[in-house]
Amino acid sequence: MQRTYIGDLGSKATESVLIKGWVDVRRDQGKMVFFDFRDMTGTIQGVVLPNRAEVIEVAKTCRPESVVAIEGIVNKRPERNVVVDKVNGDIELEVTNITILNNAEPLPFEVNVDTKDVNEEVRLAHRYLDLRSQRMQRNIRSRDAVVNHIRNFLHDEKFIEVETPILTKSTPEGARDYVVPSRLYPGSFYALPQSPQQYKQLLMSSGVERYFQIAKCMRDEDTRGDRQPEFTQLDMEMSFVEKEDVMALNEALIIDIVTKLFPEKKIQQIPFPRISYKESMEKYGNDRPDIREDKEDPNLLAFCWIVDFPFFERTDKSDNPQAEGEWTFTHNPFSRPIDEHMDMLMEKKDLAEILTSQYDVVLNGYEIGGGSTRNHTYEALAKVFEILGHKTEEIEKNFGHMLHAFKTGTPPHGGIAWGLDRFLMLLLNEPNIREVIAFPKTGEGRDPMMNAPSEVSNKQLDELHIVLKKIDNK
Ligand code: AMO
Repeated sequence: MQRTYIGDLGSKATESVLIKGWVDVRRDQGKMVFFDFRDMTGTIQGVVLPNRAEVIEVAKTCRPESVVAIEGIVNKRPERNVVVDKVNGDIELEVTNITILNNAEPLPFEVNVDTKDVNEEVRLAHRYLDLRSQRMQRNIRSRDAVVNHIRNFLHDEKFIEVETPILTKSTPEGARDYVVPSRLYPGSFYALPQSPQQYKQLLMSSGVERYFQIAKCMRDEDTRGDRQPEFTQLDMEMSFVEKEDVMALNEALIIDIVTKLFPEKKIQQIPFPRISYKESMEKYGNDRPDIREDKEDPNLLAFCWIVDFPFFERTDKSDNPQAEGEWTFTHNPFSRPIDEHMDMLMEKKDLAEILTSQYDVVLNGYEIGGGSTRNHTYEALAKVFEILGHKTEEIEKNFGHMLHAFKTGTPPHGGIAWGLDRFLMLLLNEPNIREVIAFPKTGEGRDPMMNAPSEVSNKQLDELHIVLKKIDNK
């Protein structure tokens, strides 16, 4: 017999069926055994009647979360037993045969209830179990729906998805890099990408014109509720565009996702209000303001754009507060100033006054994305690196590839990256991004299931030409 998904049983009343899935609940009533069976499409109540002695015997050995193949007859429930508003609430399965495909041992926690109160370390150590729970299934499936929606939307807008390398070179994005030692080049290291920033700009040089990627990004920063060492961006870049084009397309995509996939949500204001960095700092004291009119409403989404950020700022010189630090970039060294301030950059004048074309998209007090139009000429980009204090040889060594590409016919371009995990966290009303990532790290940056990070063998260290320093806590 062919397997029927539990979600399709509604149309099979009176038929004999075969279902496969997990024992969600077992209620042993002595002469009869009741079950809830579960597969990825739903649950159904099953009953083994007293006249099926052999089946009852198997049923009694079948522990919760065991994997089973069940043959049975789909019966309409008597009127008084119908559970309204529940999938399969009006039918039940009269079980005629149970095959245990894999019996489950007692589990560290129950998965047929919300696991949010279970110790997180325990949940993450057994994430495969945690993910079986209804809320976590909803989260990973909603994530898939959002990503699929994004892919379709962007393909309809003539974007293509291009994968960029994970083994790459350090990019100056402000965070610490994860580095990977090279076996073939002793003493040399790859870096894991903090974002595909340079590759996506080089794709503009490659004539791709409209690129996107669901991209893994790695940053060795302290972890927080909205920050993971490894996270996912919806990354995109477009050629021949102005700031307004990128913002309009992204705003349309966000609105489309919310209205089609999360119809219960209400967007506070469309078009999204725009707030200058200065105004945001003055009025809200930060650059990711929570502008919700009603903070009690879990379905209210208050998006806004923050614009007109300063391009440069002085680095912190805490050892000598009197001294002025060097210049550093506030967001992205590849950004272009706003058009009116382009001359100031080229003349290296009034640096603190220069505003960047950077636009951040903020939702309910979280920065969920940011981007800019870029300096696409050799002269302008080189000027930024000069201001940042890089020596000519260093500029050539670190950014030569970008600068040379920009001399070979690179169109004007701009883009953005969303923190996909943060956006999903807010859409799904979750308290942190770990809840929307299938296999996240703990707050301390560990994976207790795989036990990562972990030591490697001396043989591996040898091959990588690495000698470890004495580590205190050993
Ligand atoms: P940025 O560094 O602002 O821009 O990153 C874009 C968005 O990614 C999210 N984000 C994170 N999410 C989870 N954990 C983290 N550690 C983390 N760090 C950042 C935020 C942020 O808004 N290349 C540029 C984009 C561009 O200019 O196109 C970039 O990476 O939601």
